Amino acid sequence: MFALKYFHMLNIYFKYQTNDTVFTRILQKSFNKLHSRFTFKHGWVCNSIIDLFAFQNIAMNDLIFSEFPLLESERMFFKNYADASPEVIYEIRSNKKINEFLDREPAHSIEDAIKHIKIVHRAFEEKAGVNWVLIEKAGNKLVGYIGLWRFIKEHNRAEIGYVLLPNYWGKGLMKEAIDTVVRFGFTKMEIHSIEANVNPQNIKSINLLEKCGFKKEAYFRENYLHKGKYLDSVIYSLLEKDLS
Ligand SMILES: CC(C)(COP(=O)(O)OP(=O)(O)OC[C@H]1O[C@@H](n2cnc3c(N)ncnc32)[C@H](O)[C@@H]1OP(=O)(O)O)[C@@H](O)C(=O)NCCC(=O)NCCS
Repeated sequence: MFALKYFHMLNIYFKYQTNDTVFTRILQKSFNKLHSRFTFKHGWVCNSIIDLFAFQNIAMNDLIFSEFPLLESERMFFKNYADASPEVIYEIRSNKKINEFLDREPAHSIEDAIKHIKIVHRAFEEKAGVNWVLIEKAGNKLVGYIGLWRFIKEHNRAEIGYVLLPNYWGKGLMKEAIDTVVRFGFTKMEIHSIEANVNPQNIKSINLLEKCGFKKEAYFRENYLHKGKYLDSVIYSLLEKDLS
């Protein structure tokens, strides 16, 4: 009886699943519940069948892309990067102090900032990234940005990136922002791991990641070519279980 119910569910699951409907998520959840009970009861008999389909059962929650997810922390609102003013984005992306260890081409003009806003907007439309601008509640000012991108969907992994205008460094704002985004990533997006790729000389960023619970995972020697120089990279990562 239980086996029948299980295979019936399997059938519905594969017949009706689409990529990102609420219905699919509900179906996935009930399937997973039944699946774990069935595996528990019948052990190895079903494991081979399960192995064939298991990869479909754990997936990043694409539903977060149906509407831009606004977030809030104690001192900040997290708004859609795509709605930010190009002037402020230019101010951030052309700032020498901010760019010191980012090893990327700075913005040279407002047009560069507009291009970047469009790229970020398209990334969200294509479910390839989610980026927020940070508005400090006290002064109602845009103080930086943060985002999850470079998803490795088959492994439910995302990369985190963040910057803060120098006037706002040293107040704990970015720790608050990372904690908020990490919580969103694990609980709402249902990703499994979050990675940060840092220039080893970026001590402020490394201290911040360690304070947020990230662990050093790898050190790559001269793996990144920037302006004719091969640079080292350090990789930090966070799993949800690291936080408990
Ligand atoms: C990386 C970056 C965001 C770190 O900024 P930050 O201000 O040091 O980080 P936080 O906002 O979490 O603040 C932490 C500091 O605030 C202090 N602080 C003050 N009040 C605090 C509070 N209420 N809670 C927590 N920390 C507080 C902490 O002691 C710490 O100070 P310290 O650096 O002297 O130890 C910033 O340097 C930056 O934007 N750099 C350029 C972009 C960049 O490199 N991005 C990362 C790419 S990998």
